[in-house]
Amino acid sequence: MFKFNPSVISVFILLMSLSLLSACATQTQKQPAEVIPGYDRIIYPGELTLYYSSAEEEDGKPYKVIANNKEFHIFGEAVKPSIQSMYLLENSVINEGDAVLDIGTGSGIQAVFAVEKASQIVATDIGKDAVKSAKENIKRFGLEKKIDVRLGDLFEPVKEGEKFDVIINNINYPEDEENEEDPLWKVHERFFRDVKQYLKQDGRIYYQSGFLFNIPRIQKMLKKNKLQIFEMKMITAVLHEKELILYVIKREAY
Ligand SMILES: C[S@@+](CC[C@H](N)C(=O)[O-])C[C@H]1O[C@@H](n2cnc3c(N)ncnc32)[C@H](O)[C@@H]1O
Repeated sequence: MFKFNPSVISVFILLMSLSLLSACATQTQKQPAEVIPGYDRIIYPGELTLYYSSAEEEDGKPYKVIANNKEFHIFGEAVKPSIQSMYLLENSVINEGDAVLDIGTGSGIQAVFAVEKASQIVATDIGKDAVKSAKENIKRFGLEKKIDVRLGDLFEPVKEGEKFDVIINNINYPEDEENEEDPLWKVHERFFRDVKQYLKQDGRIYYQSGFLFNIPRIQKMLKKNKLQIFEMKMITAVLHEKELILYVIKREAY
């Protein structure tokens, strides 16, 4: 009769675990910390790495940022990838074949890392320099066929009938607890009012918004629009003056 050899079984289990681990690895694997000549490492408590060029910012020349081993060029007023960008990137899960909408794409960072798994990506931004930066980065990575960068406010550039499995939102948010009338709240209200039109039935929203004090107002907007926090991730230590907070949002009673 055939008998199992325990050492063969252990090797088999080890191999299975390793292949499972590699299958679970997302588009953003941990990168080793290293010194990159000409760059300063930005302290970030998560798994990914972020480096800013130590060269002075010069008019007409792109500023360079290395985010998790990829070099991004930032033109003019476009926003550099920050530790908030890295936290969002690290905690948003893109599944094979997902259609993704990246609102407020900035340098294009979320879209560029989503590309490995996504079937289609639309990246929008209201800023001309952001659109220029995203387009240039996407071209440098040879991803023009998969990522469509469009200029415009929130969902304005989305075409009729387009719906997404994942909507990423990392637009600017209110930073002053005392100022309840901050006009940025109106933009977020419009986002939550309209988002379901563009989200597939069981789709999810990855919404990045720092500051613990903003949570009640965000919950109120969600409730009003029959959306709910499905999951929340945060690092409550104050870093670069804000907390790192990521909301995973779905339709209510999902
Ligand atoms: C903090 S940056 C984030 C950039 C990028 N998503 C990232 O993770 O690094 C916010 C971006 O949102 C854009 N933005 C702000 N309001 C917007 C709006 N109403 N519609 C589209 N984009 C907007 C800004 O121009 C800016 O590029």
